[in-house]
Amino acid sequence: MTSLTDQTVLVTGANRGIGQEFVRQLLDRDAAKVYAAARDPDAIALTDPRMHPLQLDVTDAGSVTRAAEIACDVGIVVNNAGISLVSPILDDDNSALRQELEVNFFGPLAVTTAFVDGVVERLGAVVNIASVMSWVALGGSYSASKAALWSATDSMRVELAPRGVQVVGVYMGYVDTDMTAGVEAPKTSVEDVVRLVLDGVESGVSEVLVDDAARQVRAGLHLPVRERYEAIVAAIS
Ligand SMILES: NC(=O)c1ccc[n+]([C@@H]2O[C@H](COP(=O)([O-])OP(=O)(O)OC[C@H]3O[C@@H](n4cnc5c(N)ncnc54)[C@H](OP(=O)(O)O)[C@@H]3O)[C@@H](O)[C@H]2O)c1
Repeated sequence: MTSLTDQTVLVTGANRGIGQEFVRQLLDRDAAKVYAAARDPDAIALTDPRMHPLQLDVTDAGSVTRAAEIACDVGIVVNNAGISLVSPILDDDNSALRQELEVNFFGPLAVTTAFVDGVVERLGAVVNIASVMSWVALGGSYSASKAALWSATDSMRVELAPRGVQVVGVYMGYVDTDMTAGVEAPKTSVEDVVRLVLDGVESGVSEVLVDDAARQVRAGLHLPVRERYEAIVAAIS
């Protein structure tokens, strides 16, 4: 269980979408300091004396190192930055897959590794924003990258829980952000997503299942794979 009051928190991809909402709600919950990390920190629109814009490209090792040196007081890391290119998994050109793995998988690993000593020292938390697509391989390259993040999240928990750190995986279907601008389907608001995640962190959970899509797919993970996919395809057609 990790109270957010008086904590120092790092949020990646904080300049828009879900990341920006994390910063807003963390401040509402009386975080002492929030590092709003973005590739372009000038793009951070929020202003608050407790909010510190921080340059951070999660795919750039130098940027990650510099951010960890500056933000050496972080106790909670929110790995939110992500991209969705949704390319076929079998493609002669695998540049989209490689790009998604760099941002969605190697990025959170690099950031968490750079900040882990401080997180352990403060008995803090790591929050990884995965997706229902971690469990549903209909998003091609994006699904593969989020499945890798799911596995890495569980590995982080195996390594960090005995050291007193809460590791939270977050799973959800569509959320109303730039990422889903072209999607005509029901979407959860960023306000609801972030509220549920922060409630989950404060109540000590290991996974946050944000919406019905995540809950239904999670509940069916034990099914034989063909049956599981028939149910998923039926649910979305
Ligand atoms: N929206 C959904 O339906 C949905 C569903 C499930 C999971 N998710 C996950 O939720 C997270 C947030 O997504 P969102 O919906 O808020 O998307 P978004 O509005 O497209 O925002 C993505 C954020 O990630 C940042 N980012 C991208 N590449 C980066 C890099 N190399 N280094 C640092 N930051 C980088 C972007 O920064 P720039 O402005 O510089 O590009 C932006 O701040 C992602 O991990 C996404 O996969 C989203």
